[in-house]
Amino acid sequence: MKDRIEKVLEEVLNFPVKNKQELEQFKLKFLTKKSELNELFSFLKDVNPEDRKTIGAHLNKLKNAAQEKFSIKMVELEEVGAKGAGEMPDLSLPVIPNTLGARHPLTIVRERIIEIFTRMGFNISEGPEIEDDWHNFSALNFPENHPAREMQDTFFINKNPDIALRTHTSSVQIRVMEEQKPPIRTLAPGRVFRNEAISARAHCVFHQIEGFFIDEKVSFVDLKQTLYHFAKELFGKDTQIRFRPSFFPFTEPSAEIDVSCLLCKGAGCTVCKHTGWVEIGGSGMIDPNVLKNCNIDPQKYSGFAFGMGIERITMLKYQIKDLRLFTENDVRFLKQFKHL
Ligand code: PHE
Repeated sequence: MKDRIEKVLEEVLNFPVKNKQELEQFKLKFLTKKSELNELFSFLKDVNPEDRKTIGAHLNKLKNAAQEKFSIKMVELEEVGAKGAGEMPDLSLPVIPNTLGARHPLTIVRERIIEIFTRMGFNISEGPEIEDDWHNFSALNFPENHPAREMQDTFFINKNPDIALRTHTSSVQIRVMEEQKPPIRTLAPGRVFRNEAISARAHCVFHQIEGFFIDEKVSFVDLKQTLYHFAKELFGKDTQIRFRPSFFPFTEPSAEIDVSCLLCKGAGCTVCKHTGWVEIGGSGMIDPNVLKNCNIDPQKYSGFAFGMGIERITMLKYQIKDLRLFTENDVRFLKQFKHL
């Protein structure tokens, strides 16, 4: 008797119920008066009295199991029915688009600039964003209390006026010269900080890329030719470049680097303020005092240096009119930029 109960229990558990017809068959087989299961109850009276109680309990368990499976399957099948479409999903629905991330335009342009200069033999150097006065100013020939220090609105640390957020990547020139001997030909891309109001053309955090070359007999011609080549590679063959005399404490002579405006092709527009030229950075021959400060002999060596704004170059390259777009993280803006 016990074996028969086990066998029927197994049948109950294994009986497939995938649709309403099968559910009906399940009911007929196990749950109606004439079902196999109910028949078992009629044998109970023939079981000897001392076993009757346990056998009875087994039978009840079996019946409950069948009842439970029936109720669960009924609810399940009803739910599927209520969905209307049955078991098949609607294959004509549009797929959920799988959006891919894109590189930031400033990253794309920085990497392209690095690529152009590494082909000319430049390597990459780094320095800290939190700098001391020596590396950001003094070693770069900014005299103590000289108004030139105010040219760059510096974020100082209240507790220690010797420490500031670097205002330019020129600080990396000093870091590299202190550790390496010429020939040195390196690039230093990085973030810089100035206490400026945020507008379409200015931000308090932005990016520069510094480059400098020190060896015997390096001249202004090398500087010009290097930057000519760079501008043509990045902006195209027709790009013009011009050097405008300027002043930086750490270069002598110094020149501002302008490229012909790509937006109006020199005709004059708001981006170039109707001059036909856009300034992308500063440059010059490294001042002998700077070399001396880093124990490099100015009699033997000379060098050129330049520092360019990556935001400015990116705006020119992609014709972006507002610098704030770079930091707003609007995906509609960010997803538009492809490799250069
Ligand atoms: N450091 C200068 C600036 O931030 C740019 C510069 C770099 C000028 C190297 C000359 C040489 O404006």
